Amino acid sequence: MIERKCCGEYYERAQKSLAGGVSSPFRRSLPAVLYFQDGNGAVVEDVDGNSYLDYALAWGPLILGHKHPALVKALHKAVECPHNYGAQHELEFLVAETVCDLVPCAERVAFTSSGSEAVELAMRLARAFTGRTLILKFEGHYHGWVDSALISYHPNLDEIGPVNSPKAVLGSRGQVSNASENLVVLPWNDAEQVAALFASRGHEIAAIITEPVLCNSGCLMPASDFLAGLRRISQEHGSLLIFDEVITGFRMATGGAQSVFGVTPDLATFGKAIAAGLPLSAVAGRRDILDLIVDGGVVFGGTFNGNCLSLAAARVSLEELSRDGGAQLKKTNQLGEALMRRISEMARARGIPVQVTGFGTAFSVHFTDRTVLRDYRDTLVDDRNLLRQWLYNSLEEGIYLLPDGRVYTSIAHTSANVEETAERFERVLDRCAVKRRNVV
Ligand SMILES: Cc1ncc(COP(=O)(O)O)c(C=O)c1O
Repeated sequence: MIERKCCGEYYERAQKSLAGGVSSPFRRSLPAVLYFQDGNGAVVEDVDGNSYLDYALAWGPLILGHKHPALVKALHKAVECPHNYGAQHELEFLVAETVCDLVPCAERVAFTSSGSEAVELAMRLARAFTGRTLILKFEGHYHGWVDSALISYHPNLDEIGPVNSPKAVLGSRGQVSNASENLVVLPWNDAEQVAALFASRGHEIAAIITEPVLCNSGCLMPASDFLAGLRRISQEHGSLLIFDEVITGFRMATGGAQSVFGVTPDLATFGKAIAAGLPLSAVAGRRDILDLIVDGGVVFGGTFNGNCLSLAAARVSLEELSRDGGAQLKKTNQLGEALMRRISEMARARGIPVQVTGFGTAFSVHFTDRTVLRDYRDTLVDDRNLLRQWLYNSLEEGIYLLPDGRVYTSIAHTSANVEETAERFERVLDRCAVKRRNVV
């Protein structure tokens, strides 16, 4: 067993001053609470000196891996200059221009600092533009932690309601209870239910918001024509379509998921990979909608919006990812797809029922007998015990994963890293298979 004495001591100490012991409550659910002291490329090191192949990547943003040389150089240069003017500077429009060049829906860009804020702004713009209040969101999708968005993210079975009339479920104690009145919730990938809702309430709906790939509930892919169907129906009813690309953006492709699926939303939100780990997010979209900012009366703010360090990082991130037509990101996605196939084959060879879903740079391992996973409800029967075994044994093998079985890859992950990972997963699956036989 890997020794993690210092991690344990640090955690004990942290709990005496830091609320909950961690800076984001989601981080508490890892198989162990780790403290890190260094990272390089695809490898991260804890305070006990253990090295892990990092597939958590700070929950997604580290698309360039740790300490990418171009990023380190740009940040060194940036800290020699004032790091925040709270006013205008050249990098703002340079990065905005790049986003407009890369992302199909982007005619204008507004910078915020976190994904939650970007979503808040996108929803406000949609409501201002349409003069309507209701937003359609889908079960299992995460759009940030604020009152207006944390609805039906991961509701329990006993509160979720029937599939043909799901309840809008609040995600936190202390959240204002009428937050859910401004949203209507449906299961994802169900075009018929969307059509029925629009037939009765289309005139009230300001926007549909969706993750184009359901990364926050096991990296589920959209059914064929589902996103295009959302595009059609929203246009027919004068509603807007918002893609929350906080995860897919600059990870699935340099043009985001919208460029892969060929569906252009009215607005899209970005975060995480846009600045490779520095705090930056953005709303990109139609000029007539984003032009409501300032002159059209839509207000938003942010002391740290457009700060020089984050934008310097974004410039490097977008430059690295888009070089040679995005060749490096394409290669990384292919490498990840190969790993997805290997995991499926290795698990099935051991009689472990598994579905590996998603795309090469963001995928999830589901231990399930189901052969089709379409929405959040389908994932509720995943074998959680087997997932825990998988996470725990992966950590013991030096593979650092997210607690829901999600795997992120970066352009720093080489084919040698991936080969090594597959070999380690082979041993992890051997142990899971033994445990499973003993339980069955
Ligand atoms: C799809 C999506 N939207 C929004 C957010 C919120 O972003 P942030 O954590 O930067 O506020 C997240 C965070 O994981 C996300 O995955």
